[in-house]
Amino acid sequence: MLQHALLASLLLYVTLSTTVDVGYELLFTTSNAPVERTCYDLDDKIDLNGTYMVPSTAQMEMGIEKFTTILDAFGRMNRIEFIHNQFKLCVTQKMLDTKFYNRSKELDAVAPGSFFTETDPPRKCPGPLHLPGCNVIAMMEKEVDNTYVNTIKIGDSFFLVTDTHDWVEIDMSTLHIKGNAAWKQSSMDMKTMHITEIGSAHPLPLPMPGTGSNGDYISLKVNAPVRGSKTFVELFTVHSDTSPLVEDTLATVETSILVPGMPGAYIPYVHSFGLTADLGVITFQPLNMNMDGLFKGKMLADMFEDVPQMASTVIVITSIDGKNTQEVYIAPERFWFVHTINTYVDDDKTIVMDVTTADQNPLTSPAVNIPINLNKTARDAGAKSFGMSVTRLRINRATKEVILEPLTTAIRSTDFTRINTQYSGIKYCYFYANEWSHNLEAYGSMAVLKYNLCAMGKEPVVTYWRRHGWFPSEPIYVPREEPQAEDDGYIIFVALNGAAEESSLVILNSTTMKTIHEQVLPSRIAFTTHGQFFRNTLPSVL
Ligand SMILES: [Fe+2]
Repeated sequence: MLQHALLASLLLYVTLSTTVDVGYELLFTTSNAPVERTCYDLDDKIDLNGTYMVPSTAQMEMGIEKFTTILDAFGRMNRIEFIHNQFKLCVTQKMLDTKFYNRSKELDAVAPGSFFTETDPPRKCPGPLHLPGCNVIAMMEKEVDNTYVNTIKIGDSFFLVTDTHDWVEIDMSTLHIKGNAAWKQSSMDMKTMHITEIGSAHPLPLPMPGTGSNGDYISLKVNAPVRGSKTFVELFTVHSDTSPLVEDTLATVETSILVPGMPGAYIPYVHSFGLTADLGVITFQPLNMNMDGLFKGKMLADMFEDVPQMASTVIVITSIDGKNTQEVYIAPERFWFVHTINTYVDDDKTIVMDVTTADQNPLTSPAVNIPINLNKTARDAGAKSFGMSVTRLRINRATKEVILEPLTTAIRSTDFTRINTQYSGIKYCYFYANEWSHNLEAYGSMAVLKYNLCAMGKEPVVTYWRRHGWFPSEPIYVPREEPQAEDDGYIIFVALNGAAEESSLVILNSTTMKTIHEQVLPSRIAFTTHGQFFRNTLPSVL
């Protein structure tokens, strides 16, 4: 009997471990069909009313030219309406009709411009110009608007944002791209000869304890010198009721203080940053953007340079009101980072900043490489050399010491972290994230996790949602209408069922992490970026 049980367990193990990542490749395979608004029933016990906007990488090629980095692909918006008083979910999926996408369709080839990596085969310049000339011109003329890493709402307008200062406005009712956001300030300062290309993909609402936020956002941009060596990183407010958008400068960091003796400019790459009600916290990784490459039409991956003499450094900006001071903290070891989970001042006055980190630049890692992800052997091998983990930075303002506390390990890669945004900038207990290599063998073995930071040493710290052969998107937390606790709400994501070759909307009870509703969607969804839920905001669709 024991032998039978062991054999059954072994067979189950073999079956599960061979089916665990079947269809993972579909996250990196074109799924770009337009879907007209299609409605389904929603459980009436789910008290959600609003719109979930989750962009996906949707088209991996044009003509014979294939993208080689996933974040370069043409994007699609997947809009899911939760209409509580009708107990309905309505789904609309539409390719983003950007200038870059339309131009590429006209050419039947990937249009000029700089992005992460060159296509395969490499593009040819249309017309009489030769690469890199046409890439430079496309960038200068703002034609490379393939922007969909994140979505934010300023006043009544919706903007798609990425790691550049160029936001793209989208009509959330028609899902039509309205064009580049109009900023009052120019992206080129002719007086000081600085150009603003790089920004943060994660603008943050200003945390206002007790009330949440007043609708204003704070973001970050990098003013890089065309000549000279001074780079300025600027934190600024975007007010909720202005058009064109006005940047109100809160603080400016001059970056040469971070890398003493560096010949030329140090131009940082800052995907995200931290905020409390009165502190701005910016992490600088030992990475320089050689912007000369931009003018030579190079791809982003060729512009990243290691800065071997630089430690990872944190700048704390006090009193983000224009009259600020800056404190510099050097981390004890070099690390690279992508996402800032949360930042707050702890009871002992140390600043706590939780970030996702790696021991190399994540934006050129195997995780974002399309050919590697399409090949199981290559992606599993890649996972042996790369993984993201969650690290807590404890910044002691009295001793000037930074302590790095690993919260997860890179053996199971963890990223796409989210929290209850009502706890942004204050002490919190929970984050939610995606995990890869969950079974410690296959990179495509994925899970959604809930991490209880307040339970360390007391009860299970991590709770999982997972299904064999299902690949979830970033799990976002949405509170119930009247939440009674930090985790009293829902976790929402889309998940690809690899074997069935279809995607579903999945809703979890965020307290238990158990599924409470799911709906198969009309068109499969490939690799997604950051989804957002806009409460009580529904499109005008008559
Ligand atoms: Fe991000």
